[in-house]
Amino acid sequence: MRHIAIFASGSGSNAENIITYFSTKNSAKVALVLSNRREALVLKRAARLKVPSVFFDRKDFYHSGTVLDYLHSYKIDFVVLAGFLWLVPENLLDSYQGRIINIHPALLPSYGGKGMFGEHVHRAVLAKGEKESGISIHFVNREYDKGDIIFQAKCKIDDSDTPDTLAQKVHSLEYKHFPRIIEQVINNLND
Ligand code: GRF
Repeated sequence: MRHIAIFASGSGSNAENIITYFSTKNSAKVALVLSNRREALVLKRAARLKVPSVFFDRKDFYHSGTVLDYLHSYKIDFVVLAGFLWLVPENLLDSYQGRIINIHPALLPSYGGKGMFGEHVHRAVLAKGEKESGISIHFVNREYDKGDIIFQAKCKIDDSDTPDTLAQKVHSLEYKHFPRIIEQVINNLND
């Protein structure tokens, strides 16, 4: 059984969806949730779903082995970023090569990069008059939203869409596809 860790900074609705999806599978389970915000709703969701969770701060993440120690102690094989806003440091990238993926709420390579998260993304997409948006699931590397793309799905944008309604459409795509793609990538791991 593979052990998944989810990093999230906010609400964690994707985290909850992923936890629930894998709760009925024998191949993998979410073994740990990690957050850099003590008050993040994702930590409450994890507690309700009986998944262990930890909080870490900037020093733990960038200037110590604390987070890597957490991952090792829960025997984590695979890392999922779901609404996590910090750049992943070198020690994690090295230890989990090809085993860290992120979901981005737009069609990369457009509308990605630092500061492009949540509502900012949807506002930028609508401001450009785009006719469609969507989701991108990609491997994580040293740069924001630049790793190889694994999967994309699109939704149509209507004239009446607002950042909120577009966010809802994008979230629906995320709930539908993200757990399944995580499962596929995990099934393709070599060891
Ligand atoms: C999602 O839209 C995801 O694409 C982005 O952050 C959002 C997280 O939403 N990276 P939630 O916390 O899972 O509700």
